[in-house]
Amino acid sequence: MLGVFILFLEVIILFAQIAIIIFFIEQLSRGGAPYVPSSRSVALCAVNALTLPTNAVFYDLGSGDGRMLRLLSLRSPTATCIGIERSLVLCLWARFLSRKFPNISIVHGDIFREPLHKATHVFTYLFSDVMDQFLPKAEHEFAPNTILLSLNFKFSQKPYDRKIDIGDKKHALYEYTF
Ligand SMILES: C[S@@+](CC[C@H](N)C(=O)[O-])C[C@H]1O[C@@H](n2cnc3c(N)ncnc32)[C@H](O)[C@@H]1O
Repeated sequence: MLGVFILFLEVIILFAQIAIIIFFIEQLSRGGAPYVPSSRSVALCAVNALTLPTNAVFYDLGSGDGRMLRLLSLRSPTATCIGIERSLVLCLWARFLSRKFPNISIVHGDIFREPLHKATHVFTYLFSDVMDQFLPKAEHEFAPNTILLSLNFKFSQKPYDRKIDIGDKKHALYEYTF
């Protein structure tokens, strides 16, 4: 019995090690925004800043471990919450953490390739240069009145509608309407 348990533990540790190695290879081999999760207080501020109608379709572009999606789903259970994440390890981890949330789905993909025309509300925590590269796609694809909330990083070519201070000097949210 103890032998089976130790074998089971060894298999789990092996899988965890493989996942960690793949995660670091993914992060190091790609440019753009790396994985830095929003803190709980910042994520709560973002969720509180959004007023979602019952049929809202919320996207977290670069969804990491899916924490924004889960917070939003708890607050707005009727919303459809979709994450797009390019890291396979994070995508699988986020799907596991979100398995009890029927309105959350997480796509393993690139925000520059996935269709976004169904979005009504969007959250981003990416870099400024990624935001600027993303702007033409957003302008082309987002339906009129789509709201985008960006943590810390602004578009250089589009003025924001409002800046939401979060209570510390390091973070701010920028709201845009398309
Ligand atoms: C700063 S983290 C934010 C994670 C999450 N949104 C949060 O607030 O906790 C940025 C995430 O975006 C992902 N990412 C960066 N560029 C991407 C792209 N082009 N397509 C999909 N995901 C991307 C990264 O892998 C990373 O998980």
